[in-house]
Formats: sequence, structure tokens, C-alpha cells
Amino acid sequence: MCGVVGYIGDKQAAPILLEALKKLEYRGYDSAGVAVIDGGEIGVKKMRGRLQLLCDHTHDGLDVPGSIGIGHTRWATHGEPSDRNSHPHLSNNGRFAVVHNGIIENFRQIKEMLSGHGYVFYSETDSEVISNLIEYYDQGDLVKTLLAAVHHLEGSYALGVLSLDQPDRMAAMRKDSPLVVGRGEGENYIVSDIPAILSLTRDVYLMEDGEVALLTRDDIRFYNGYGEPVDKEIFHVTWDVSAAEKGGYEHFMMKEMMEQPEALKETIRPRLRDGRIDLSELKLDRDWLNDLRMVHIVACGSAYHAGRLGKNLLEKYLGIPVEVDIASEFRYNAPILHPDHLLIVISQSGETADTIAAMREARRRGVKTLAIVNVVGSTIAREADHVLYTWAGPEIAVATTKAYTAQIAALILLSAYMAQEKGLLADEERARLIAALEALPEMARQLLDDKERVQYLASQYFNHNDIYFIGRGIDYSLSLEGSLKLKEISYIHSEAQAAGELKHGTISLVQPGTLVIALSTQKKLREKMAGNIQEVRARGASVLAIALEDDGNIEAVCDHCLYVPALPDAVQPIITILPLQLFAYYVAALRGNDVDKPRNLAKSVTVE
Ligand code: G6P
Repeated sequence: MCGVVGYIGDKQAAPILLEALKKLEYRGYDSAGVAVIDGGEIGVKKMRGRLQLLCDHTHDGLDVPGSIGIGHTRWATHGEPSDRNSHPHLSNNGRFAVVHNGIIENFRQIKEMLSGHGYVFYSETDSEVISNLIEYYDQGDLVKTLLAAVHHLEGSYALGVLSLDQPDRMAAMRKDSPLVVGRGEGENYIVSDIPAILSLTRDVYLMEDGEVALLTRDDIRFYNGYGEPVDKEIFHVTWDVSAAEKGGYEHFMMKEMMEQPEALKETIRPRLRDGRIDLSELKLDRDWLNDLRMVHIVACGSAYHAGRLGKNLLEKYLGIPVEVDIASEFRYNAPILHPDHLLIVISQSGETADTIAAMREARRRGVKTLAIVNVVGSTIAREADHVLYTWAGPEIAVATTKAYTAQIAALILLSAYMAQEKGLLADEERARLIAALEALPEMARQLLDDKERVQYLASQYFNHNDIYFIGRGIDYSLSLEGSLKLKEISYIHSEAQAAGELKHGTISLVQPGTLVIALSTQKKLREKMAGNIQEVRARGASVLAIALEDDGNIEAVCDHCLYVPALPDAVQPIITILPLQLFAYYVAALRGNDVDKPRNLAKSVTVE
């Protein structure tokens, strides 16, 4: 949901800004722009379309002089993608420039107020009110001015601000949208997400909500909402830079799918010790755990699909009720929350606005929160009571793959660990589970290496207009993920249905030639699934089945089959989803789509 960047130093700013924006494009890519101070003017270059257009138009930024600037890549919320609606936005007198990620909920009122004072607006965005509000409240000092202006803003924002009257400094501020400050040698940076500046520095400050940063070439100062100085500690980033680069693969998505064995290993191995599951890192209180009566799982998108599997796992291992909800629904459903409940939030980015809001609501109501999160130092990681990291590494492709499977692995570990600590996990069951978890990365590697058959099947079906996924229980949750993966990158209409529910409506859409992908990986449900498959075949559907290797009967009822090895129930989903991820990828690639940056989507959804 928009990427924000800023540079101040002695080098030419625009090429550095554009380079960083390339790594933020996953946040939005419908338009881009930079503003750079030079020769007593703020020069703005911005345009609709992919960042590459702006790079071509400015010779990779070389045509834009100046060594202090801000940049933006947009995911439109207010106003269509257009040159005018692109950021940065200048104030009416041309003396302030602003880039913004987030949403200003009361922008209409502010616009009306400022219009009454003669201000003119050139865009349809909510963001343009910020630059003009800053001009309106200008009192010479950038920090004081910014604080006076944001006092009137309702909503979320990560801001980078330039002022022509103070051309040797840049201000930044955040509330409910991510922003970090990077410290370099004789140069400093602001950025929405750390990987975008990792080639420049590994020393960053994680900004808190309501804090302002004031950057000069050689100095960075922080202030709280009252304008008082704040001391902040440097966070030293230790990740590998190459993790955020394509490394020879055509798309990040393929690279990230192939990284799943490693992501699973990193997430699982350190948590298995001496034949036990060790999540002592969570510091769960034993008495609290014994008193635990109910769990809520809240997340968005694929993380929600992982959460659905978490419900099965927690109910199986702990024997207490688990509710799983989409974060944007949770808050407004008047959830019943008690202090002996636990709220688990799941998020790759740790910055999803709805998930953050759900977590804060639970905390406000005295409920402990546990976050399964991938990005270290993200808002969710910092605010949750307990954090269980998925060690999947940076994920760039909009369609999540390795973070999703790592989330399932984390949920398996968490549910089995809680059961173990409560004395509910039999030794035999634990040994079986640990053996399966240990074998999982290698098994995933073998399956991913053998991807030609999936590629072949994708070539058979890539020009279909509708593809349905069916499954029962955990296979239904996986169907939801398989279908989402396919539709988000291939743009093929797709739905997932609980297989037994199909005949209550959706089967009316099945016609001769319709493709139905049927998941049948649970022995106890094989016969039922075979019956559901027959129902769609009787209406002329082609069926691609995903089944266990030892299923001798499946080929008799389907057109094609992809086999996966049989594992203990808890672990099976991680392996079953892999061919569906590959299928979505190959179908999208065959259709010539931009696999990593599908239309209308963004990876980090920081608006509600
Ligand atoms: C977006 C992404 C999805 C992701 C969802 C939740 O829609 O495209 O891949 O599952 O947001 O994001 P989170 O960062 O909270 O896991």
C-alpha cells in the first residue's frame, strides 16, 4: 500500500530514490514519483504507470539534480492512477513536498477548511491535504510545523516531508503505517520497509507511532508527539541482502517457492530440542496456559487460510474451542473476548492494518495476544504480547508462498507445544510429529524439484475461464488457498467450495469442460471425495485430483492426478499446497502475466 523513501546526503538523490523504490514496488505499482530540492526549487517528476517509465523518463534519475529528496510508489486509494494523483504532492506555495502511505479519513473536512482559506487542490487524493495543511501551519520549524499539522489528521500515515525553507533537512513521521529511518555515512534515509535500503545500510531505527524524525546529512533526531527529544536504539539488520534479490530466477515467486525447504527448516529446526518441542522463547506462563479456555485466530488473505488450519490443529491438540476470523470482519462482529482467551494474529508483513486493529482491540480488552509474524521489528511483532517468528526471510512476490507454509509450520509447533506443556501430548504422538517435521524440508525439496508434471498440466488448462477447487476439512482450507493463489496471479475466475456443499448451489456452474481441482488427501474422507468428484464429472467437468501416493482408486475417477506423499495429518497441508502454488505460477506465466506484481494488488495492505 504505497512505498515511501527519502534520501539526504552528498550524492545525487534521484537515482538512489528510484533504486530503493524498485524494491518497494511490491507495495504498489500504479504510479511513481520523486521530489528533489535543487537550486532553490523543489523539482517533482511523477507519472502514472510502472516505476520503469519514470526511470526511462529521467534516465534512471540522472536528469533530476539535487541531493535531498523523497520518492513514492503508489497503490491508489483515493483517485485513479494518474499523473496528477501521483506523489509527491506539493503545497500551494510550492515550498513543501510530501509523500504519504496510508489513508487520511477526514481529508474532506480538511480540504473544505483549506479551500475556505483559498487553497486549491490539483488531485483527487487524500494525501494532498497534508502538504497544504503543513503550509497552513508553517511556523518556520519543520518538526513543530509537522506536529501542528498532523494533530488534525485522522487515519494512518507514513510521511516524508521536504521544506524549501530548510533545504538541509527532511522530516518523517508515522502513525499506523510502517516507516523506518536508516543511518549511513554522511547520508541518511527513510523507507517503508528495510530490504529497500539494505544495500545502503544495515543500521536502522524503527519508528514508533506518533514519533517524528528529523534527518540531516550527518545527524538523525527523534521527537515525540509533544516535540520533546526521544532517544532511540539502533537496530542492526543481519539478514542476507541476496534474500531480497531474484538470484537467477525469472520471478520472485518461483524463487520463493523453491526457498520453502529452507524456510521450513529455519522455522522448525531451532524449535526441536532433545525430542521435545521447545517454544520457551514465547515465555508463556504455565498457570495462564492451564486456565486457557478459548483461542481466536485473526488474519487476512493467505494468513487467514493458514489460520483455518491452525484451528484444526489447536482443537485437535488442546481440545478447546477455536474461532478463526478474517481481521476486517473480526472487530465489527462484536467478538466475545475474555481474559482467559488467547488471540493469535498471523501476518507475513506484520503491518496489515486490519490485523493490527484486531490485535489492539483484543489487547485493549485484556486478552493476551500471540503473533505469528515474519518481519522482525514490524508493528505486530513489537506490539504483541508473545511473538513466534516464521523464519522465511524476505518475501517479495505479492502472492505469498514460503511465508504461508512457514506459518502452517509455526502453527503446528505452537499447538503441539501448548499441548506438550499442558501434558496433553502423548509421547508417541510427539515422536511421530517431530520425525515428520524433521523430514519435511527434504520432502518439500523433492516435490518442488519434480515440477515438470505440474508445468505440463498448467499448459493443458491455462486458457480456461473458470476453475473450481473442492475439498473437505483441511483440504477445503487448502482449496481456498489454492484458488486464491490461482486467481490473484492468473486472473482466471476461481472459487473454492467445501466438496459436500457444492450441490447446494455452485454445481449449477459446472458445464462440460469446466476444470475442477479436487483435493483428496485424507484417507477417512476418500470415499466421500470420490462421490463428489463423480458428481462434477457427471456434469462434464474435467477433474485434476491432488491425492496421496497410495490412493489406488483416484485415477479411475479423475482426468489427471498429482500425487503427494502421505504424512501425519498435522503436517500434510504443507506438502499438499506445493503443487497448487506451482500450478498457479505456471498458469499465470503461460498467460503472460506479471507474476510478481499482479494487477490491483499489493503485498503489504496497510489500509483498512
Ligand atoms: C495481501 C497479500 C497476501 C497476504 C495478505 C495478508 O493480500 O497479497 O499474500 O496473505 O495481504 O498479509 P500479511 O502480511 O498480514 O500476511
